[in-house]
Amino acid sequence: MFTSALLAFSLLLGQLPPVPGKEPHPLVIGHRGASGQLPEHTLEAYERAIEQGADYIEPDLVVTKDGHLVARHENEIGGTTDVAIRFPKRERTQLIDGQEMKGFFTEDFTLEELRSLRARQRLSFRSQAYNGKYAIPTFEEVLALVERKNRETGRQIGLYIETKHPTHFQKIGLPIEPRLLAALKEHQLDKAGAPVYIQSFEVSNLQWLKRHSELRLIQLIEDVGQPADQIGTKLSYASMITPAGLQQVATYAVGIGPYKRLIVPEHDGRLQAPTHLIENAHAAGLLVHPWTFRTDKEYLAEDYEGNPEEEYLQFFALGVDGVFSDFPEDAFNARERWYRQEIPGR
Ligand code: G3P
Ligand code: CA
Repeated sequence: MFTSALLAFSLLLGQLPPVPGKEPHPLVIGHRGASGQLPEHTLEAYERAIEQGADYIEPDLVVTKDGHLVARHENEIGGTTDVAIRFPKRERTQLIDGQEMKGFFTEDFTLEELRSLRARQRLSFRSQAYNGKYAIPTFEEVLALVERKNRETGRQIGLYIETKHPTHFQKIGLPIEPRLLAALKEHQLDKAGAPVYIQSFEVSNLQWLKRHSELRLIQLIEDVGQPADQIGTKLSYASMITPAGLQQVATYAVGIGPYKRLIVPEHDGRLQAPTHLIENAHAAGLLVHPWTFRTDKEYLAEDYEGNPEEEYLQFFALGVDGVFSDFPEDAFNARERWYRQEIPGR
């Protein structure tokens, strides 16, 4: 399907591999690790992502009852661990970001308790063969993994860290950000130029981080609604992606992490003409790292005719600066083709 004028023009310009010593472009971000293959947010999934060529791995961070940072997509861990079997009485309902949520929450467990759990695959159409095998990693273990892989491979693997439900954790006296900055400092990853991005769907914690660190910050953007810390204000995700909104984001962030349908919309199962979000964001000086690219047929748009590389190539041609992928091997291979310009139909 990629015979579009945009792709042809982009190819005429030529895509060059990155300069040695600089970050690859566009970045391959191993979303929750190689989470399409192994249970998400496990050391094994992160290591697989690195081996598949991810430039960055993407831990989502939450906090335990005794104040440790651990990697989970949510503080609710019923869907990704065996907690319901191990601690059935700990289920409860609470308000998180203004929404009632029933489940098992990391803030109700000590690190020792969480360490006794085992991860599970959350999606039924992905392999269940690894359920019960892997532990929930601490952020310290993720840092140690990256240091080991750096030594073994001679590469510089980056950390693309998401602060999950920052206002919620702030309210219950377990703020994520100071813990995160302390851990990064301990590993000499707290200075400008460190291979670290910190991302959030909220705004005020990024603005706090802007004041308290030199690290690169990414404003995550949903297709609807507003940041959880902005309820009651006029700031919505829709207003954030206007040219004026993007200028405001650029006062504290170096880039945006938008839902990919804000770049290539979909209607009735068919892809639509791209929006101007990338050029508008670039005009504001912002990087653009959309999420999430997934090879599963349950996720891949029909227009790509079963070939996930087509989707990456489309977004590379549109000018993204990186992609969050559950299948970093596919993202890496597509980028190799992009560098070599081995594009079908060219
Ligand atoms: O971090 C951006 C990307 O991960 C989208 O968010 O919900 O998958 O953590 P989520
Ligand atoms: Ca994330």
